[in-house]
Amino acid sequence: MSTNSPESEIIKLTATLNEHAHRYYVLDAPLISDAEYDRLYRSLEKLESEYPQFVQQDSPTKRVGGKPLEGFVSVEHQTPMLSLSNAMNDAELQEFDAQVRRLLQTDDQIEYSVEYKFDGVAISLSYENGLLVRAATRGDGSVGEDVTHNVVTIKSVPLRIELPGSLASLKQVTIRGEVLFPKNGFERINEERLKAGEAPFANPRNAAAGSLRQLDPSITQARPLAFYAYGLIAEGAEEIKTHADAMKLLEMLRFRISPLFVQVQGADALTSVYEQAAGLRADLPFEVDGLVVKVNSYALQEQLGFRQRSPRWAVAAKFPPSEEHTKLLDIIIQVGRTGALTPVAVLEPVRVGGVVVARATLHNQDEIARKGLKIGDTVIVRRQGDVIPAVVASIPSLRTGTEREFVFPELCPECDTKAIRPEGEAVLRCPNLHCPAQIEQRIIHFASRDAADIEGLGEKMVALLLEHQLLNDLSSIYQLKFEQLVQLPRMGELSSRNLLEAIEKSKNIALEKFIFALGIRHVGTRTAFLLAQHAKTLSQFLIMTEEQLLSIHEVGSEIAQSVTLFLADEREQAMIHALLGMGVSVRDAEIVTGAGPFSGMTIVITGTLPTLSRKEAEDLVITGGGKVATSVSKKTSFVLLGEDAGSKLKKAQELGIMTLSEADFLGRL
Ligand code: IVH
Repeated sequence: MSTNSPESEIIKLTATLNEHAHRYYVLDAPLISDAEYDRLYRSLEKLESEYPQFVQQDSPTKRVGGKPLEGFVSVEHQTPMLSLSNAMNDAELQEFDAQVRRLLQTDDQIEYSVEYKFDGVAISLSYENGLLVRAATRGDGSVGEDVTHNVVTIKSVPLRIELPGSLASLKQVTIRGEVLFPKNGFERINEERLKAGEAPFANPRNAAAGSLRQLDPSITQARPLAFYAYGLIAEGAEEIKTHADAMKLLEMLRFRISPLFVQVQGADALTSVYEQAAGLRADLPFEVDGLVVKVNSYALQEQLGFRQRSPRWAVAAKFPPSEEHTKLLDIIIQVGRTGALTPVAVLEPVRVGGVVVARATLHNQDEIARKGLKIGDTVIVRRQGDVIPAVVASIPSLRTGTEREFVFPELCPECDTKAIRPEGEAVLRCPNLHCPAQIEQRIIHFASRDAADIEGLGEKMVALLLEHQLLNDLSSIYQLKFEQLVQLPRMGELSSRNLLEAIEKSKNIALEKFIFALGIRHVGTRTAFLLAQHAKTLSQFLIMTEEQLLSIHEVGSEIAQSVTLFLADEREQAMIHALLGMGVSVRDAEIVTGAGPFSGMTIVITGTLPTLSRKEAEDLVITGGGKVATSVSKKTSFVLLGEDAGSKLKKAQELGIMTLSEADFLGRL
């Protein structure tokens, strides 16, 4: 193998990219720009497509999720995944230490290692001969679910580990850790979900679990998950004598570990770490619910052994949750943009974790029933980190008899239309598209930053305009007059003029923003972008069929149905035409190449393909970031070959250009 053979190039690029990914995703210390990384990534992709036989097992291109699974497969854990007993306060932590010393029959101080207890989803990673072969959830501790297809998309999970020195001969290594959903990503995804008319995740742990339990890895891939390792099982690794040794090794193997990781001697030191750490919690980028204290020495761990389901050598020292008691004064119903009727708890204002909470979403009817909430109840309100407050439970023992049952209204509280509960959904909806609350939310959404971006037309302004009957639908935004605006309370000449200017500016709008602005259920910014890329023009978008929608990668039946329903609605079509009539001009989509499996490639299609029409194949090339050419030349990346190909095949063979069957081609998508 010469030093610049394609094989050695691929090996080198793979290693370089993995090194940069490690610096970026694990160490938070990138050396190169994203653009430079993308450039390297694309050159590896190109080489790999030319020489698929040299693709490395740990190639970053393998992180692109494969096809959706039909269902999850059970995996038996060779070493069970246990739980931890809890210490709820310092006294219980002291009791843990006392018990350890009792069992070890010693008065000496014990060496403990202390790290965060992550609030995510426990995962077991199996590496064989250095390669990641399986990732499984905890399940019941003995049998979990195989989620390898999703876990490989998490960039902080190494696909290959290189065990140093004498450990290199170990065939099997299991790494245990936690998949986390970072707090900031959590807020973002919930905003997106709300915008798309979906129920938000209750907390980052649910978001992590929901992201891992996806049959389609492209969904997991789009979520900002991170993996933190906290345990290593390697039979025969004699030189690893303590948990601290194991953690050092994990870091060397390029895993993230708890940013707080210390060894302390004895119980007093435990107390002081516990007290300090509780204060650091709010500033962490992810949720932790306490510390895990482990006897550091493996020899002592062995002496201590296990209870039924948990080790005697470790304890979870839980942080006090940010929780308070308060009164549930009322439950009101909010009507969302897509008509969803969401119950909201009105609370006696209470300070939780430093923030005053007066409202909390109750998500839906079932949730109220499940928590058994009555109006007037004393309830527990919890805030986790920076996260949305939640009513956790009521305290029935504090009832006085004056509490009353909440009855979910049958009619929309804003327009009195009978609410419906679509099959399979937990949410009641107001079906009236002219419901004033929906119109209000739709206008707010339309004017928002990622949509028409009309500065000055926020919630308060919209409410004011509605109150003065200056708005009644989206197109009426473009009929607002200076004389009307200046007369409104708190609106001067300048602010009126500024608002009109912002409205005028919004008339020139990109297709993807326009599609997002329409407020179609399930269509967030990402989906709007994909739809725009596919349709290219507004007129094409307006006649898209469900089939065409489903042909878009990342668009599933839920989105496709919702878009079809929207487009088939005469009132929506009329509304769009009214907007256009007001002078709104929608720019055709700028097709983004550079992302996608065919980015930078020039592809020639020849012969009759077994299932795809010529047009469909061309579309796939283009949406995949490639270009279609009609004749084969040295610049051709590959020829997509059907039946009865003629001169183009010959030309490709002469020039040594790769040919792909339709199946190979589809496999790359
Ligand atoms: S060690 C023998 N370390 O807590 C058990 N667990 O109740 C060894 N967890 O679901 C577990 N952070 O996923 C350990 N730093 C940490 C942890 C941790 C979170 C989770 C673990 C499990 C639960 C145990």
